[in-house]
Amino acid sequence: MAVSSEALRFDGVTQSFGTTVALEGIDLSVRTGEFLTIVGPSGCGKSTLLRLAAGLISPTGGRVSVHDEEVSEPRRDVGFMFQKPTLLPWLSARENVMLPKSLHSRPTQNDRAEADRLLELVGLQGSEYRYPDHLSGGMQQRVALARLLMTGADLLLLDEPFGALDEFTREKLNFELLDIRRATGATIVLVTHSISEAVLLGDRVVAMSPRPGRIAEQVEVGLGDVRTSQTLRSGDFAHLLNRVRDAFDHGRRAA
Ligand SMILES: Nc1ncnc2c1ncn2[C@@H]1O[C@H](COP(=O)(O)OP(=O)(O)OP(=O)(O)O)[C@@H](O)[C@H]1O
Ligand SMILES: [Mg+2]
Repeated sequence: MAVSSEALRFDGVTQSFGTTVALEGIDLSVRTGEFLTIVGPSGCGKSTLLRLAAGLISPTGGRVSVHDEEVSEPRRDVGFMFQKPTLLPWLSARENVMLPKSLHSRPTQNDRAEADRLLELVGLQGSEYRYPDHLSGGMQQRVALARLLMTGADLLLLDEPFGALDEFTREKLNFELLDIRRATGATIVLVTHSISEAVLLGDRVVAMSPRPGRIAEQVEVGLGDVRTSQTLRSGDFAHLLNRVRDAFDHGRRAA
């Protein structure tokens, strides 16, 4: 199957809920293999944008497409991860990861091997048989990430996946996510409240304005593929943070 160069596209998308206009005039295209981060204040429509991409809701106006096909319902090649891990407490880490398979059929030996490989990829080797209650918040998010990868989706939508974690754990998971992205080649769209997380992870950062949500600015990051804790200390990183901050300052002055 030919892979289109565009994984996701919004054309003139508007989303209203009753009298609330959550999103207005959204034009956005995400390249296949790109890591796009979306940052903006609470209530500006970030989750709504991801829910549209996931086919969980249909836009009031405009068009959302994935791999050149209009999105009208959830697709198997698009995976979604929520802010909370949403693991099933009565299943072990490994069984939670296998859920995308076991919902449809009896997991095979291959599925079990794949689950173990993904648990290793997210740094959870040795915890395969532990239950969610016995895992830290960061470990639970790792299980949720492995479960997302188990779906085989090549477009991953992450809604503030590390928002509830402390800064140390979040930073560690940020670097792990960059490794996972390199290992899988997935297209990733990640929503965050944190400007530094957006710059550290993104190939491009989209800054959104407060309600009604619009795209205020797009910043190409250009920090290269390999990012480390040194990246966080670099002048280039500080410069990019300021560029994204400026987008919000301009937005506030214009409001
Ligand atoms: N199902 C819904 N029904 C009614 N209003 C909704 C619904 N979903 C979202 N909204 C409204 O749309 C706006 C955008 O919501 P959304 O959840 O997308 O914001 P957000 O940027 O993700 O915020 P946060 O950073 O707090 O998660 C808000 O005003 C919200 O109240
Ligand atoms: Mg949200």
